[in-house]
Amino acid sequence: MIKNLIGELVGIRYPLIQAPMNWVSGAELAAAVSNAGGLGTLGPNAGTQAITEDVELTGERLREQIKKVRSLTRKPFAVNIPIGVGEGLKYSKRCVEVVIEEAVPVVITSVGGPNVYTKVLHDGGIKVFHAVSTPKHAKKAEEVGVDAVVCEGYEAGGHKGFTELTTLILTPMVADAVKLPVITGGGIGDARGVLAALALGADAVYMGTRFMATKESESHQKVKDAIVRAKDACTVSVPKDFMLARDLSNIFTNQYLEMRKSGASAEALRAFLAKHSKFSAQHLGDVENAELHCGQVAGLIDSAPGAADVISGIIQNISSVVEEAKRKLAAFQA
Ligand SMILES: Cc1cc2nc3c(=O)[nH]c(=O)nc-3n(C[C@H](O)[C@H](O)[C@H](O)COP(=O)(O)O)c2cc1C
Repeated sequence: MIKNLIGELVGIRYPLIQAPMNWVSGAELAAAVSNAGGLGTLGPNAGTQAITEDVELTGERLREQIKKVRSLTRKPFAVNIPIGVGEGLKYSKRCVEVVIEEAVPVVITSVGGPNVYTKVLHDGGIKVFHAVSTPKHAKKAEEVGVDAVVCEGYEAGGHKGFTELTTLILTPMVADAVKLPVITGGGIGDARGVLAALALGADAVYMGTRFMATKESESHQKVKDAIVRAKDACTVSVPKDFMLARDLSNIFTNQYLEMRKSGASAEALRAFLAKHSKFSAQHLGDVENAELHCGQVAGLIDSAPGAADVISGIIQNISSVVEEAKRKLAAFQA
């Protein structure tokens, strides 16, 4: 029997991981994905509607979400902990203590060095997946001893580095660079994308935007409708101070990019971003005047079903996509 490295590592049926999406991926989405045979992931602000600067409260909010996932599923799930730098480390440190106390099976660390928490998480019995943006960073994560690396291409929704490497290029580069299991994301939303990712050398896929448009996601209904409506080139890359974001193209992105073009100062851009925060889009449903992280795959999404239906749809279609590819190859060889 052929073994899937990620499936073996964390005990999931299908190599399908619901990627963390800040406020959007709360306990209900994570549990629905895990119950359907994938790996659900809690986002950093899961279950909340407001940012807090209280470290203790940040940890307790996370604990509450972990308990809620456990009340909804007995299957493995993951928690995303953005590591951060400087002052930001106090939040991630508290979250690390909480996931160890709660014996969470998997942590996905991002936005920081893999050396910061891998050992302490391992000592706490937790598997660590670390998000990287280049093959060089993947090697570094391997040296530190993480259990798997996660990479995401330029197509992906949300924040990423400035490399602009697409999933088609980044995935085989990372798969060639490390011996560890590789999880890849960015632009994947159906069986075609899943098979392509596996063919590129990934052991599992990482899907964010596809799960944002599901019944269980915490996104406002207007956000889900906007993704379903989105067609063609519906997202833009938005440069910020230290990273790029991919957002749904709207009045906000047009105004922000126009401000950059006309030479607005860094302070003015930051103030504009703060005013049109993601919170307004995700919770108030202001899909035109606020920042809405969203991947290019939105253009391929035409419904917002339950998360379990997304997973079963992908699994059901895998064999016909394989057959289609084989038919094309056979015709070529004949
Ligand atoms: C709305 C939204 C919020 C996101 N928030 C986070 C986050 O909090 N932490 C993180 O590591 N990645 C975050 N991401 C990135 C996703 O985890 C994942 O890498 C990406 O969605 C994969 O590409 P796709 O959107 O094409 O599926 C976010 C993505 C979206 C769309």
